[in-house]
Amino acid sequence: MRKILVTSALPYANGPIHIGHLVEYIQTDIWVRAQRLRGNKCIYICADDTHGTAIMIRAQREGITPEELIASVREQHLASFTGMGIRFDNYGSTNAPENYESCKEIWTALRAAGLVHEKKVTQLFDTQAGTFLADRFVKGTCPKCGAQDQYGDSCDKCGATYSPADLKDPISALSGTTPELRDAEHLMVEIERLRPFLTEWTQQGNHLQPEIANYLAGHFLCDELRDWDISRPAPYFGFEIPDSPGNYWYVWFDAPIGYIGSTRVWCEKNGENWEDWWKNPETEIHHFIGKDITYFHTLFWPAMLKTAGFNLPEKVHIHGMLTTNGEKMSKSKGTFIKADTYLKYLDPAYLRYYFASKLTGRVDDVDLNFSDIREKVNSDLVGKLVNLASRTAKFMKDLGLSATYPEDGGLFAFGASQMEEIAQAYEECDFARVTRLVMAIGDRANKFVEDSAPWTLRKDPAKQQELQDVCTIALNIFRQMVIYLSPILPKLAEQSAQLLDETVESWSIESVQKPLCGTKVNEFSHLMARMDEKVIDAMIEETKEENKPVDTENTAGTEENAPKSQWDDSAQPLTDEPLEEMCTIDDFCKVDLRVARIVMAEEVPEARKLLHLTLSLGGDVTKNVFAGIKSAYKPEDLVGRLVVCVANLQPRQMKFGMSEAMICAAGPGGKDIFVLSPDTGAVPGQRVH
Ligand code: MSP
Ligand code: ZN
Repeated sequence: MRKILVTSALPYANGPIHIGHLVEYIQTDIWVRAQRLRGNKCIYICADDTHGTAIMIRAQREGITPEELIASVREQHLASFTGMGIRFDNYGSTNAPENYESCKEIWTALRAAGLVHEKKVTQLFDTQAGTFLADRFVKGTCPKCGAQDQYGDSCDKCGATYSPADLKDPISALSGTTPELRDAEHLMVEIERLRPFLTEWTQQGNHLQPEIANYLAGHFLCDELRDWDISRPAPYFGFEIPDSPGNYWYVWFDAPIGYIGSTRVWCEKNGENWEDWWKNPETEIHHFIGKDITYFHTLFWPAMLKTAGFNLPEKVHIHGMLTTNGEKMSKSKGTFIKADTYLKYLDPAYLRYYFASKLTGRVDDVDLNFSDIREKVNSDLVGKLVNLASRTAKFMKDLGLSATYPEDGGLFAFGASQMEEIAQAYEECDFARVTRLVMAIGDRANKFVEDSAPWTLRKDPAKQQELQDVCTIALNIFRQMVIYLSPILPKLAEQSAQLLDETVESWSIESVQKPLCGTKVNEFSHLMARMDEKVIDAMIEETKEENKPVDTENTAGTEENAPKSQWDDSAQPLTDEPLEEMCTIDDFCKVDLRVARIVMAEEVPEARKLLHLTLSLGGDVTKNVFAGIKSAYKPEDLVGRLVVCVANLQPRQMKFGMSEAMICAAGPGGKDIFVLSPDTGAVPGQRVH
């Protein structure tokens, strides 16, 4: 039996858990559960990452203490994780006393090794907020290309990186004032001295995926490693450095040590000795992280552990970033979905299974595609897995499973023969392969059920034994599949064990080797619903709503802001003309809406409904338009008005001339046509977004 300590990165305590985070926590949770299924002792340790400027500033803005902020975020994080079926053995906090103890121990070791020295660092200081500014809190003009509104450390436009001191016209994001340059003594760790060790550790022994090892060799280890700035002057929310009053450990020092701190808390609760986990070479330590924090976990962290005489990680498993529908998660597109919002609409099993089907153990980004997830869930989980039980279990309530396992043409033996390969795929984090191997078992079993047609056997009193045998086979293959997938689908595993009158605790991966016979089958209750497109749309809509900027100034109490019910608007218009199917922002952007001025309007005598208009888009640009608004407007009332027009509409040859644009209007027609006009201040030619 292996003894394995597993961690996921510690989420920052300044924001909610979103579906991007979930790639990692789901991946780790599956790996941990798979280890346990294989009989290994495995603990899953995590914590909130609570220190740093961002958290200090957010607490200030909300008028609470950082401690209050991290306590409330902790509750939210735990609720999200629990809802998603992610089960930690301990969820700690980097602000815990146990963590401080471990920080001190590692710090003392770094000092004793002579790796720490002082250095004067010049940084921007916000005199109004009274704090040094982290790079993200300064904006200004890029010193290389002159692009405005760039962060303190790098330019989005030209890709240059620079010191905030070189940024032109810097502005503090905290106060909007111009910060000044100030010097402070910082403590630096001379990590260069550990380069030979790091080169060996990263390049040998299979601790890292090959692409990561190559990246480190090519980008960092080939050159002298720069000193690591490990302290921050007050004010800073963190641990004050015991032998350097007024200075605090930089958040990235105490964050990974939080893995140890949280283990200590677990050990206190469980009567274990934390050093058995962190200083005993028999224990394997496995970290799961995203590629964005590779540097901290593969260079600084091993350097710290090595210096202090702790175990080094057996493996750092690195995953890619989540994209949605092939793009970066976006607040405005409604794809920056919080775990809590997801859980309001969808079963966690869907996302767990979908991510599993995408995770291969490589560092590639993972895409969440909303039609793909539906297709996967409906065809694999509902179609191949749940269906196997739902089509057979109901006939078995009174019969129970056959007393001996019937001849099944090798179906069960095939399922059992996949065990080693599936276990290996779990070990390698190739969960995509796990799902493929298990679904292949399902394909055979479903074909068997269709060919045997238990629903027909059931009607023939002479065929009750055959019915029982067919269902015994189907349910045994179902059980194999569920055991294999139990790390991915823990809730479904529990329900299925209940159905088969077993408990998940009694299952190990070896349970797939021996068929279940002669036992009772409990009442079948619904296991999983198909995934509905409308529900996904609703979730995306809600995400968009959550992310709409709220304008809190000057609008409270005005008419526009009154509660909706007061207006009592009729449902008729929407009933008459239901909403179109969803379009993307790109679809919308294809329609070029512009503000235009009606500079000429006349009747078209031969046409009952049309007015002939000339629209000006500013300058010399005009558009000739025939608009069907004669029943509601007189030409002379229109001249001079601003309207909104579709300016890039394909021109259309009409009986009376060419129509080159369209003006926007609402209403059913006749007298009830209402031309749209912009608020005062808009001018012709402006785009409507
Ligand atoms: N607090 C640090 C980690 C300290 S570990 C000692 C941090 N926190 S985080 O909240 O930003 O991210 C936590 C983990 O979630 C990281 O491993 C990160 O890579 C992962 N993800 C956060 N957003 C992600 C995506 N959009 N996609 C995939 N994983 C992402 O970093
Ligand atoms: Zn630039």
